[in-house]
Amino acid sequence: MLVSAGPTREFVDPVRFLSNRSTGRMGFAVARAGVEAGHEVALVCGPVSIEPPSGLFALDNVVSARDMLAALEARLEWCDILVMTAAVADFRPEAPAARKIRKGEMPECLRLVPNPDILAALAPRKGDRVFVGFAAETGDAVDSAASKMRRKGLDMIVANDVTRPGAGFAVDTNEAAILTPDAPPQALPLMPKIELARIIVDRAARLADARRRP
Ligand code: C5P
Repeated sequence: MLVSAGPTREFVDPVRFLSNRSTGRMGFAVARAGVEAGHEVALVCGPVSIEPPSGLFALDNVVSARDMLAALEARLEWCDILVMTAAVADFRPEAPAARKIRKGEMPECLRLVPNPDILAALAPRKGDRVFVGFAAETGDAVDSAASKMRRKGLDMIVANDVTRPGAGFAVDTNEAAILTPDAPPQALPLMPKIELARIIVDRAARLADARRRP
């Protein structure tokens, strides 16, 4: 099982970057639940300040979205399940400065370019693998997650409204709904991230098992 976690950083100059509020907690919980369930787990992780779970098969630390894509590409062949928990930065500065931008040199605007969509980039090599995505939304989580799941060709998407108390970034609990293409959404109550992770891992493993059966 291959799991991505945490934010990515997109540098403006050698000391400044664009990033987001992801702390890696949900991805680490998925990795831990995978290890507990007996999977070999490789974790590809953006910059976080929490300890990774023990018992991992591999841990790749990455910084930018493009680094994360390269690390996942390198491990994709190996895995049967990919859980994309990472909060990948959607865009990056077009031309990061080679040295620190001084106060007096402040650019009036920062030109941004889109980062690759990692799930879309990996999709052509998906084969029989189970791809699970996350959708962190601010309102309308289930509807927009459903269209995201279709657009990204996912087997499962975990939707959560990050503005709800106890859900989303930097807390140990989450309130989410699990969507698959051919079942009604399963709305789950507020629960610790590790419990949600166990449900996700269990459902993803069942899908992978069903594909292996002749
Ligand atoms: O479109 P959105 O970013 O909301 O989709 C979220 C899902 O897509 C997550 O699983 C995230 O890890 C993944 N993603 C990605 N590449 C990006 C942005 C998000 O694979 N550039």
